[in-house]
Amino acid sequence: MRAWDKLSLRARLGLLYTVLLVFSVVLVGCYSYWNIWQLFISNKSSQLRARAKPIIEHWLIDNDLANSDNPHLKLNPQKAFILARDLTSRDTVAIVLNQKGDIIANGKRLPEEPEAPTPDKHYLRRALAGENEVTYRSQVNGKPVLVLLIPLRPQPASPRIFGVIQMSTLLTDIREILFHHGAMLVSLVAIILILGIGTGFWLIGASLKDLQVLLVSCDQISKGNLSQRVSVKNHRDEISRLAVSFNRMIEKLEATFASQQRFVANAAHELMTPLTGLRGSLEVLLRGAQDDPSAMARLSKGMYREVNRLIRLCEQLLGLSQLESSSNVNKQPIVLSEFFNEFKADAQVLAGGRSLTIQQGPCVKVSADPDLLKQILLNLLSNALRYSPSETPVVIGWKLVVGEVEIWVSDQGQGMDAETLSHAFEPFYQGKNTVVSGDKGIGLGLSLAKSMVEAQGGMIRIESEPGKGTTVSFTLPLK
Ligand SMILES: Nc1ncnc2c1ncn2[C@@H]1O[C@H](COP(=O)(O)OP(=O)(O)OP(=O)(O)O)[C@@H](O)[C@H]1O
Ligand SMILES: [Mg+2]
Repeated sequence: MRAWDKLSLRARLGLLYTVLLVFSVVLVGCYSYWNIWQLFISNKSSQLRARAKPIIEHWLIDNDLANSDNPHLKLNPQKAFILARDLTSRDTVAIVLNQKGDIIANGKRLPEEPEAPTPDKHYLRRALAGENEVTYRSQVNGKPVLVLLIPLRPQPASPRIFGVIQMSTLLTDIREILFHHGAMLVSLVAIILILGIGTGFWLIGASLKDLQVLLVSCDQISKGNLSQRVSVKNHRDEISRLAVSFNRMIEKLEATFASQQRFVANAAHELMTPLTGLRGSLEVLLRGAQDDPSAMARLSKGMYREVNRLIRLCEQLLGLSQLESSSNVNKQPIVLSEFFNEFKADAQVLAGGRSLTIQQGPCVKVSADPDLLKQILLNLLSNALRYSPSETPVVIGWKLVVGEVEIWVSDQGQGMDAETLSHAFEPFYQGKNTVVSGDKGIGLGLSLAKSMVEAQGGMIRIESEPGKGTTVSFTLPLK
């Protein structure tokens, strides 16, 4: 089994195919040889029986035995000899045996006539018991002979048997024919095997060639060359389909790696901005600005703002990484009206003095993580507040859609242009909108909201028109 495992797929398939081919061709060859042998034998035995039948019938009539009903009739050796003699020819010899199985007449007279084999007791007993078609093979002086036993009866249907005729004929001619046939069969089998095995190996090699190409591509990809693709021929076999799926998978992987690289680069850039600001402020302080109270206050304020920005960035990055694992989503039944009653206080703190409306929807229970739901709403609300004038209202509400609940946050602010709309969910993407209230963002709010919604089995979408306002809605499964 171990040696088998060590073989390549090509060698395994080739070996299996060769064994099967040899086995089936040899089996068919042997069967055909045996079949022809049987055909010759049965043909020869039918011929002998057909030749013997009229001779025996005439002999019975000539000797008044055809109608004899004497149960103690004994065969006369002279009469039996005539019968044996009539049945003997150049290639066939007949002997006559009595009811006890003793030879009473042998038809061989001339030296060129074949010798009769010694009767086989087992077969003789069967013929004396009344079996008509006893045929077997034997040997005389090392030569193969076919032996036929014919019970002697007054009438063909009579149960009375007063002797047995043994006819034997040499099989040397049949053997010779079969030897030539066998030699031809062996050469044919050898040709079939050579051609079959050659074609089989060629076919296996050709079929596995694409797999080899796939293997080389996998090797190159494992070395980091993600732009590598497998060239697919226009076949519809499994290997071509595997190559198509493989290319698709590599395309996705390449896109994922590229977006990860972009993400890390953006994150580093976003971290650099407040850190550079902090270093600048610290350098000024070190150069002696601590003696100037007004400069000191200004720098501290700036540093405080940068540190806050750093903390917010870290919190959002942490939030994104936590969402990678589904075990961080703690879903539970939430009665929306109760949730929003509590949420209103937090939302009002964020909104400051601005007008914020919570439009009560139907009394439903959703299956969601309350912390994540709160974070999503705070993110969307902070966007609405940030990008809409303070005198315009911001509305939060929910409604039932098929099997789900849709929650929305809408404002009547600047809205988004087509480009912002198409990239809004990308991490670190920030549109050209001017910040109306609060600090400039990082560009993670919407992508974080999207990840949080999807982690709970929902979907998020934006409807926005420049100058008119924006509505961000997301769905959550009903409990
Ligand atoms: N309600 C809105 N109205 C108009 N534009 C919006 C609105 N919400 C988001 N945008 C646009 O989409 C961009 C991406 O929003 P996102 O919330 O991801 O980032 P951000 O608000 O800039 O920063 P962060 O949320 O990380 O503090 C924003 O920069 C803004 O241009
Ligand atoms: Mg935001």
